[in-house]
Amino acid sequence: MSTITYASPFPQDFVFGVAAASAQIEGAAFTDGKGESIWDRFARTPGKVAHGDNLDIACDHYNRFDEDFALMASLGVKHYRLSIAWPRIYPNGDGEINQAGIAFYQRLLASMERHGITPWVTLFHWDLPQSLEDRGGWTSRTTVDAFAQYARTVVAALAPVVKNWITLNEIRCFTLLAYGWGTKAPGRKESDAVVNQTYHHALLCHGHAVKAVRELGGAGARVGLTDNCDVAVPVTETPADIAAAKAWFVERNAHILGAMHGKGYSQAYLERVGTDAPQVQAGDFDLISLPTDFLGLNIYTATYVRAPKDNSGAAFEALPLPVNYPRADSYWLNLIPQAIYWAPRMCQELYGHSSIFITENGCGYDTEPVVNGEVLDLHRRDYLRNHLREVHRAISDGVPIHGYFLWSFIDNYEWEDGYERRFGIVHCDFDTLVRTPKLSARYFAEVMRLRTIL
Ligand code: NOJ
Repeated sequence: MSTITYASPFPQDFVFGVAAASAQIEGAAFTDGKGESIWDRFARTPGKVAHGDNLDIACDHYNRFDEDFALMASLGVKHYRLSIAWPRIYPNGDGEINQAGIAFYQRLLASMERHGITPWVTLFHWDLPQSLEDRGGWTSRTTVDAFAQYARTVVAALAPVVKNWITLNEIRCFTLLAYGWGTKAPGRKESDAVVNQTYHHALLCHGHAVKAVRELGGAGARVGLTDNCDVAVPVTETPADIAAAKAWFVERNAHILGAMHGKGYSQAYLERVGTDAPQVQAGDFDLISLPTDFLGLNIYTATYVRAPKDNSGAAFEALPLPVNYPRADSYWLNLIPQAIYWAPRMCQELYGHSSIFITENGCGYDTEPVVNGEVLDLHRRDYLRNHLREVHRAISDGVPIHGYFLWSFIDNYEWEDGYERRFGIVHCDFDTLVRTPKLSARYFAEVMRLRTIL
């Protein structure tokens, strides 16, 4: 019998933190030499973003980071995952470096240090310079070369203060959703072959970033990818359903996690995509398969999978969710806390990961008014509690989850859903930019302080 119960504290070195991303909170979209990003362009394209919201001001974190870090510190936040805006560093994607962009992040990181907050820096969280999109974006290898240069520049400049690096955030979202479905910037609808090529280019960038951290990150630097893998949850936790869920997981993640860990695309994947397979050059997988120090997982939702009930010979049956299944206000965000148990467990069992961080987990809702100075987001408090219990269960089952970052510190620009969809534990009034910690922020502060699920 396990000695760890829900009442036991999280391990002493378990990392609790909050997360956000440059484009979603900074604002100052054209300040101090920043170039245009594909999201700046997409937001100005009629019909692409709810209410035509753009990133020009966002939470004005660019000018208010000191205030934001003071607020984080007052809540007891000790770790913050942020991202660097590529167009601040290279306004045109490559070529001339914008020193003002580097200086901004140096000021921001110095403020974090003053407030006792450790940075976890993501090199790419979707704000691709528009100039690179004009040259093909993620469909082109030009972007890979530009990213390699960008990653080396950022790691070299910030290595004195940054030890935790994340290469890319959620490959699927800036490839499939952006070049296949067209719902995210740049909003293109290309063929499967083109989309498969964008995955491959993203994987190469991941490899370049790992190499940059190894060569330039200095002593103690660690690096990993943040993936939003497709998560399978067994309908019943029986060996048959678990095996089926695992088979589904392997198939659905073959093009990213499978490729990284398999030192190449699997035979099953290549057979499935046929002539749409990505073009691979000699040496690509030497980069893509470079060992990392941890895996970051963004966990929001899952698919229920069971062993087939018939004799079809299929390895699994994925179930559609009934319309009444609980979900947050995002249509894709079904509330399945076991996702945060099963995804890390499968990554450990399938790919041998020995250090996993939940780099995002959270929920978004449209109506969260401030009433008498309070936001009573009990729904988010429940969401957090339910997910933390599953993280705790995983740790007690021996799954190496070493940290949890809540998405998000503050309400922000939720991409194509604009400012309507709120994911923060701190409310942001987008007219006055006043910040108000929600009930969930007070709750999470206590969890972090006592390292216990309350
Ligand atoms: C994942 C993304 O990384 C983040 O940018 C986004 O806001 C959240 N999911 C919520 O959709």
